[in-house]
Amino acid sequence: MKNGDIIELKIEKIVYSGAGLGFCDGLAVFVKKTAPEDVVQARVMKLKKSYAEARLIEVITPSKHRAKPICPLQNACGSCNLQFIDYDFLIEQKEQMLIEAFRDNLAKEKFLPFEKSPKTENFRKKAQYPIGETKNSKRILAGYYKEQTHEITNIKFCPIQPPAFDKLINFIRENWEFGAWCKYNKNGLLRQVVARANSKNEIMLTLVLKCETLPKKIDLSKFQEKLQKEFPEIVSFYLNFNPTEGNRILGEKFELIYGEKTLTETLEYKNNKKEYKIGAESFFQTNPACAARIFSYIKEHTEGDKTILDAYGGVGAIGIWVSDESKKIALVEENKDAVQMAKENFKINNIKNYEVYEGDAKVQLNNFYIKKKTFDCAIIDPPRKGSDKGALEILTKITDKIIYMSCNPETLARDVKILEEKGFECESVKGFDMFPWTHHIEAVAIIRKKK
Ligand SMILES: C[S@@+](CC[C@H](N)C(=O)[O-])C[C@H]1O[C@@H](n2cnc3c(N)ncnc32)[C@H](O)[C@@H]1O
Repeated sequence: MKNGDIIELKIEKIVYSGAGLGFCDGLAVFVKKTAPEDVVQARVMKLKKSYAEARLIEVITPSKHRAKPICPLQNACGSCNLQFIDYDFLIEQKEQMLIEAFRDNLAKEKFLPFEKSPKTENFRKKAQYPIGETKNSKRILAGYYKEQTHEITNIKFCPIQPPAFDKLINFIRENWEFGAWCKYNKNGLLRQVVARANSKNEIMLTLVLKCETLPKKIDLSKFQEKLQKEFPEIVSFYLNFNPTEGNRILGEKFELIYGEKTLTETLEYKNNKKEYKIGAESFFQTNPACAARIFSYIKEHTEGDKTILDAYGGVGAIGIWVSDESKKIALVEENKDAVQMAKENFKINNIKNYEVYEGDAKVQLNNFYIKKKTFDCAIIDPPRKGSDKGALEILTKITDKIIYMSCNPETLARDVKILEEKGFECESVKGFDMFPWTHHIEAVAIIRKKK
C-alpha cells in the first residue's frame, strides 16, 4: 500500500476521532464519514507504520446502520459528524469507544449502560458561529466551520439548536452593516456570534467584534432598535471586543448594550429543580436536559456524604444540584467571573452551607491538605485536557471518594489510572450522550480508595 492508492475495505467500527475503522492487507485504515458494515472505496492519504488514513471516494455497499440525517447540511457542516448513523446504533458505538478509551485497564463489567440524550433535536442551547463574508458581493456568512477547515458553512437551519437561533442569525446576516472580519476583509468588524438560550427560550446574545472599543463612526442604534423589536426574547445583549488575530473566540472586554447582565437557566429533573445565573463568558453545559440527568446520577452517589468538594466547579452547576441542608459544599474554580456567579447561584437557591475558593485546583487542594481539611466526596469536572497530575495526587490525600465527570474519555482513562496507582479503585464508568450526532462522549467515573 502507498499514498494515493485506491483501496476497498469493510468498515468494522467507529473510533473516538469519529472515523470508521477497517482493515486492508492487515493494516488499520481510518476513513471518515463511514459507518460500521459499509463497504467503501477510499484513497490512501497518509500511510504510517501501524495505520493509514484514507479519504472516502464511494460507499459501494451501504451499511444497514446508515440513517437519513435530520439536517440537510450534515455533509457540509463540520458540527454533527455522525448524523448519517442510526441514533441507537451510534449509542452502542459510543459505549464501545468509551470502553476502548480505557484500553483494557478496566473490566468490561465496570461500564454501566450508556444513556441516550433526552432529546436529539433542539438540545444544544448554545451557538457559537464564526462570521465571514463572500469575496465579491460581501454578503455575511455565519455558521460552523466545515470539518478540519476554516471555511464557513452558511447555516440557515440547524435542527439541533433552538429555532429562534436560525431566525436571529438570519437577522444578523440581513441587518449587520459593519462588515465581517475575515480573511478577505481585514477592516470588517463582526467575527463571531454567540447565542445562549434557556429553558424559557430567553436568549443572551453576544456579538464579538474585531476592535478594542467600538469605533466612533459606528452607530449601532438602528441595528439595536430593530433587534429589540424583532426579538423580545433577547433578554441580554452584549458586545465583546476581541482585537487579537488568533483563534480565541472571546476577548477580555464586554459591554452590556441592553438587558440583564446574566441569563437565568432552570434545570429540572425528577424532584430536583435549581436555578443558575449564567454570564456571557461562563461555562455552562450545552445540553441542559442531559446535564440534569448526569447531575442526578452524581447526586445519587453523594447520598449520605456531609462534606463535598466541587472542583472545577464553574458557576456551581453540580455543587448546587447535589446540595441539601445536610451537606457542606466547597467549590473551587479559577475563573473569576464564574466564581462570582457561583456565589450568587448558591444564594438564589437558598443554599447556606457553602464555601467558594477562587484559584487553580492544584493550589487550592493543596491548601486544603495543609489545613487538614478533608471531604466525604470530591466531584471533579475538569476541561477536556483532564486534571493536573499534582492535583489528582493531592486529591487522594483529602478524600476517599472521587466522582469524576469528563467530556474526554482519553484523559478520563489516563487520570483514573493515575488515581489507581495512588491506591484508588474505579468502581464504575457510565457514559451519557451530551453531544448527540457527534463522536463526543461525556462520562462519569466513581472512584474509591481501596480498602
Ligand atoms: C468542564 S467545565 C465544568 C464546570 C461545571 N462543573 C459545570 O458543569 O458547569 C470546567 C471548569 O473548570 C475551570 N478550570 C479549568 N482549569 C482549572 C484549574 N486549573 N483550576 C480550577 N478551575 C479550572 C474552568 O474555568 C471551567 O469552569
